[in-house]
Amino acid sequence: MNKNDLEFYGSNMLYYESALIELVSRLDIIRKYLLNKKGRDPIENIKTRIKSADSMIAKLTLHGLEPVVESINGNIYDTAGARVICTYVDDVYEVARILRSHDDIEVIEEKDYIKHPKPSGYRSYHMIVKLPIYIGDEYKQVFTEIQIRTLSMDFWASLEHKIRYKHDVPNQAIVASELKRCADEVASIEMNFITIRDMIKAITGEDHETKNT
Ligand code: GTP
Ligand code: MG
Repeated sequence: MNKNDLEFYGSNMLYYESALIELVSRLDIIRKYLLNKKGRDPIENIKTRIKSADSMIAKLTLHGLEPVVESINGNIYDTAGARVICTYVDDVYEVARILRSHDDIEVIEEKDYIKHPKPSGYRSYHMIVKLPIYIGDEYKQVFTEIQIRTLSMDFWASLEHKIRYKHDVPNQAIVASELKRCADEVASIEMNFITIRDMIKAITGEDHETKNT
């Protein structure tokens, strides 16, 4: 967070920071629970971010809203965001299912771009939730966007994002169709890994071990 962000968000920053602490703590417990139950941690890593003041101002303006912090509530849901990188596709659904089962988390929206990839080739599972937090003795529910995806989905999305944001790229249509082809190939390679994993599991009767030594 730079000075600009702090100036824009003011005391509201604490809500978003607290929501992300709350979410990461729940995810850490889910990891420990599944490691205990299955002998394998399904989450590779978790990244969090609060939208920079610059991109928030751009988004509010795009939505025809006044570019001030008061415009966010009830209009913008991804001020606080987390990206949860899982090992396999089934892990994505399991993590989403457990989060959904938490009674005090209100699920506002879910988008399954794994079953229904975007035309770009983008694959990921998105949830918009309201997280309960306490700031001192004040109770708040804070909108948070959670993107849950696998290593391979994240690999593609990260590179595609970097490439797409170079606005002076020539032959846009060819670039887009090549990126889509890469997305399909990455998805197919991921399927091969799952087949190999399941084959080994069928022979040894065990899931593979990923505990750190
Ligand atoms: P936003 O106004 O961006 O929030 O769009 P939306 O409300 O339609 O949400 P959507 O679920 O489509 O996308 C939200 C986020 O998903 C984006 O901010 C990106 O982080 C990610 N995303 C969506 N589509 C793509 C894509 O084609 N490529 C990459 N790399 N990321 C994407
Ligand atoms: Mg969004």
